[in-house]
Formats: sequence, C-alpha cells, structure tokens
Amino acid sequence: MPQEINFSDGKLTAIQRNRISTYLRELLLVERKNAPEFKYENYTDVKSWDFGKRFFKYFKAHENLILEFYPPANEAIFQLSDKLFIDELKNYLTGFETINASDYKINDHKCDQIFAAMKLPAPKFFKIKMNPTIQKLHKIIRSAIKDDIKSPFSFVNTRAWSSPPEADDEGIFKFHTDKHCPGHLKIMTYLNPMNKDYGYLILKDTEIIDQPAGTCVLFRNSLVDHRAVPSSTYNRVCIEITLQRTFVNLEQHHDGHPLGRHYASLNSALTEKSEDDTIIFRQA
Ligand SMILES: [Fe+2]
Repeated sequence: MPQEINFSDGKLTAIQRNRISTYLRELLLVERKNAPEFKYENYTDVKSWDFGKRFFKYFKAHENLILEFYPPANEAIFQLSDKLFIDELKNYLTGFETINASDYKINDHKCDQIFAAMKLPAPKFFKIKMNPTIQKLHKIIRSAIKDDIKSPFSFVNTRAWSSPPEADDEGIFKFHTDKHCPGHLKIMTYLNPMNKDYGYLILKDTEIIDQPAGTCVLFRNSLVDHRAVPSSTYNRVCIEITLQRTFVNLEQHHDGHPLGRHYASLNSALTEKSEDDTIIFRQA
C-alpha cells in the first residue's frame, strides 16, 4: 500500500486526493529516472540556467497541478506588529559573522537538499542557523500570508544580508526577475524602515517606500520585475525567505543557505530520501 500524502487542505475530496497522489508519484518517479540531482564541487560549477534546463518541467508540472485546485498567488504587504520581536531578529543577526558569497565553499553548508549557485555581484550574507527566532518568524509569516499564497506551501530557504549605503547599481539593485522554477515566491522582511536613508523596494512600477521597520513583502519573484533601491545613509538589512506552493505545509529544517535557490529537485522538495523506488512524501 503506497504511503498517503498528509494533505494540509481538509476540503479536498477522496477523488481529488487520489488524483493528486497518483499524478505526483508518477511525476516524481520520472524525475528520478531522467533528471538526477547535480553533483558539484563549487557553487560556480552549475548555473541556474542548467538547473532550469533539467528541472523546470517537473516544477512546472507540479505547479500546474496546484493550479487545478488553487488560484494563483498574489502579492501582499504586512507588518510585524511586535516591536520587541523585530529587535529580537536584529539582535539575532548581529550575533552572526558575515561572509562574502565568493568565499562560501561547498562544505560550509551541510545540507545537500538545496541547489545553490553563485551569482555575482552578491552582498555579504549572514550565516544564519535554523533556530527558534527564525522558526517564530516563519510561523508569523505563515499565518499572515496563507490567504495570499492560496495553497499550502513549503519554506524552502532563508537568508539575510546587509548592504552598505550607496551600493553599486548592480545585481539586486537592477530590475530583474529571479528566474526560479514555477511555484516559487519570495517574502522579504525589512528590519529597518523602508525609506531613502535605509533603502526600499520597487515591484514593477510600484515603489514600496515609507514603511516602518518590520515590513514584509510577498511577491512572485520570477514573474514580477523588481529591484532593491540602495540606502543613502545606513546599512540595509533584510531577511529573504523563499517559498514553494505545495499540497502539504512543510517547514524548513536546514540552516539557511546563503546561495540557496530551490530544493535540489522536485523529489528533494516533496519527498524523504529512500533507498529504493519507494516514494515517501514529506509530512507536515
Ligand atoms: Fe530578486
């Protein structure tokens, strides 16, 4: 008897659950056969483009299945209302050393479930660990945005960085999309106010400015053109969380990967490792 998916949505009928399980099992087995996960020695070895060429279609098929049952996600802005918690996050980050993306080596991160690639220029990242403060942030975010994501979702990766004032007009400061596989979204948490002094964000033609510290912005990072606006006076500190729409609400158990993009495959995103062809779905 194959293992059941622990669906987070109690409203799905038995027929719908059966359709989803059957389709996903098949899709995951095809991916295992035709698209092995990349093995790489350096974060520059495999480009995001190579990842997309191998895995895009599996993530797309998964998101298309989600779209049969749930509407597309939308953008959203909300504030962390607890000022003490914003301070807790700031203090938490201050405790960490920062690292240049180019100095980050393959063995610096133990998790092999995340695909990571170097894209330069990149800011100085904090090496953040998964701990109760970040878990609390995830919990607040999950309840704040569940109606905007529209489907259950998985926390894929969490990173944080600080950019100095007057940063070059490069990388994240130029209009871009993140070119993630379908189904992904990002949520940025700004630990400083969003204004000219601290920097802010532009989503297509909407400036997100004059917002208090603790503002969180959810957006479809690979569909909506966006750019960060560098601060003029102070360091700009933000936490970025990558999400993926799924049928089960899944949490992040690995430490934040400074260069992480997606799970290493749809199998890594949805299933536990198994020695044979058994599909063991990750549980909420
Ligand atoms: Fe981006």
